[in-house]
Amino acid sequence: MKLMYGVASPFARKVRAAAIELGLDGQIELVAVETAPGRPNRAYAQETHPLRKVPALTLDDGTVLVDSTVICEYLDARAGGGRLVPHDGADRWPLLARHAVAQGMIEAAVLIRYETALRPADKQWPAWIDDQWDRIRTGLTWFEARADTLDGPVDLAQLALGCLLGYLDFRFADADWRRDCPRLESWFSDLSRRESFARTAPT
Ligand code: BEZ
Repeated sequence: MKLMYGVASPFARKVRAAAIELGLDGQIELVAVETAPGRPNRAYAQETHPLRKVPALTLDDGTVLVDSTVICEYLDARAGGGRLVPHDGADRWPLLARHAVAQGMIEAAVLIRYETALRPADKQWPAWIDDQWDRIRTGLTWFEARADTLDGPVDLAQLALGCLLGYLDFRFADADWRRDCPRLESWFSDLSRRESFARTAPT
């Protein structure tokens, strides 16, 4: 399998970390792809992902899977199933809901990054940026109140939350998310020492 990724992408990191957690990383060749907004990578759009996003996973038979969550679910199934997302039972739906919140927080952080790093300063919209930060901070408070859900084996929601926190440290080092989230700080400190996160830190 070939995984198209970007070294800074939190979405691609989620998949890379999932592959390591599931013991599948040895079966995956990493291919770095340039996907900056405003600089369309037409070859990538033609050959792999029409929306020019990473990650994308090309299977050995040529099938292309896109979207970090779809790819994680595929890898989970390939590893026997039920490790990142339980097949059924009471845990499945709350876990998927937690994942959706963490994924939305990543999306908000990436939107802020694009707005502040790529859009000309005189065209930026401060109230919109503040609104994205408010979503992230409210999400952090929400997870801080549910830190007991982070105690079990690494799951899809934890992978997304870990990628969000790593991305905040990487792109927004002065955001100081740890100040109000001591339980998340402790949890993320442990997670960062796992092979899946140590090997996939953004650069
Ligand atoms: C970034 O450089 O911050 C980035 C790269 C790929 C996807 C999302 C964010």
